[in-house]
Amino acid sequence: MTTTWNPDLYLRYAAYRARPADDLLPRLTLSVAGDVYDLGCGPGTLTKRLKEKWPARRVVGIDSSAAMLGSARDKFPTDIEWQQADISQWTAQKPAALVFANASLQWVPHHTTLFPHLMSQVVPGGVMAVQVPESGAQPYHKCIEALAESDKWRSKFHGVHPHEDPLPVRTYYDLLTPLAANIDIWESEYHHVLEGEDPVTEWISSTGLVPFLSVLSDSEKLDYLADYKACAAKAYPRQTDGTVLFTMRRLFIVATRKA
Ligand SMILES: C[S@@+](CC[C@H](N)C(=O)[O-])C[C@H]1O[C@@H](n2cnc3c(N)ncnc32)[C@H](O)[C@@H]1O
Repeated sequence: MTTTWNPDLYLRYAAYRARPADDLLPRLTLSVAGDVYDLGCGPGTLTKRLKEKWPARRVVGIDSSAAMLGSARDKFPTDIEWQQADISQWTAQKPAALVFANASLQWVPHHTTLFPHLMSQVVPGGVMAVQVPESGAQPYHKCIEALAESDKWRSKFHGVHPHEDPLPVRTYYDLLTPLAANIDIWESEYHHVLEGEDPVTEWISSTGLVPFLSVLSDSEKLDYLADYKACAAKAYPRQTDGTVLFTMRRLFIVATRKA
């Protein structure tokens, strides 16, 4: 049973999960010297792509999950450094050329202090690049909330919360402009075509459900997943060809540090 971050399950939809990074990475250019940090690097797939893009730079993958880092180390053993750390406590050893965080900062609270802090870890002329999902309005998130608030499950989830939506775009802009020479912000909606019996639950069980599954016993997990599948099946009716259209909205920010 999945109890923590599970690299194999997370990578099941690797091609779809890569789409936002496919859109983000080509927009990044580095014109100053310095290291590259991948915060919340997970199984290291994107850290590897960062290393391929900037082979001469020191590239460091940071994650709080030993399982994710173990998978990254096994697959990409050479020339990338892997460090276990909590992003909320993280500071760069010296100001970085790039601080990159794809689909991780939604798990880290207090963005009003976190974002300026991360930007301050970037050298003048360097870049902070972030992608975060905007889940609040999406049915997969409504199912998480509905179960968390239900009479059946509420008592199991003291202190466990779904990740929050990002702040309003204008707030990030105001938080970063004191430190940024320019900021590029955009949002995209991805309509992933999923196949299989319970594809939404499979997708979410390796991300948004992790905090909930991790506090349940094995038998409770099965029961919870059955309830989640029932909610997801109603929320995501099949298309005429039997597939499910799974929509994810994502916010992107690329900010260049003031000289
Ligand atoms: C959805 S995965 C994204 C992985 C990778 N960035 C990618 O796009 O494929 C989120 C990752 O963030 C990590 N994470 C969550 N909270 C964290 C924190 N406070 N500090 C460090 N890593 C964290 C998780 O362990 C997980 O590997």
